[in-house]
Amino acid sequence: MIELKQISKKYTEHTTVLNNIDLTIKKGEYIAIMGPSGAGKTTLMNIIGCIDSCTGGKYILDGNDVSSYNDKEKARLRNEKFGFVVQDFGLISSMSVFQNIQIPLLYRKNKKGNQKEKIEEILKN
Ligand SMILES: Nc1ncnc2c1ncn2[C@@H]1O[C@H](COP(=O)(O)OP(=O)(O)OP(=O)(O)O)[C@@H](O)[C@H]1O
Ligand SMILES: [Mg+2]
Repeated sequence: MIELKQISKKYTEHTTVLNNIDLTIKKGEYIAIMGPSGAGKTTLMNIIGCIDSCTGGKYILDGNDVSSYNDKEKARLRNEKFGFVVQDFGLISSMSVFQNIQIPLLYRKNKKGNQKEKIEEILKN
């Protein structure tokens, strides 16, 4: 479960992009974040996906306060918890499709054995 409590984001002293946002997303729930260009959708998504940090409030992910996590802890969460479909695909063109799928698995401990099987399974779907 994702719980945002009074989340704020200021890029500078004078640019408050998010101002006390409360949002709860339960397991299995589908939500859409809508708003005009510049409203702060990407900023909010980056905070939820642990790519960026909030400057105020609390972010509780599955019961853990991740707003206090350091970069390394956030990198682990990104690897284990989040799937992002980005606008520009974010693929590495010098690598094969197989290698692109393999990248996050390389950063995961153990599980080496069934990597090939797992990637082939993903490619089938
Ligand atoms: N790294 C940054 N530094 C300073 N200001 C930023 C930064 N990123 C975004 N902003 C500003 O924050 C505001 C919100 O931007 P954001 O990209 O989150 O909006 P958006 O809702 O995703 O817009 P769009 O629909 O165009 O994608 C904008 O005014 C933008 O200029
Ligand atoms: Mg955006």
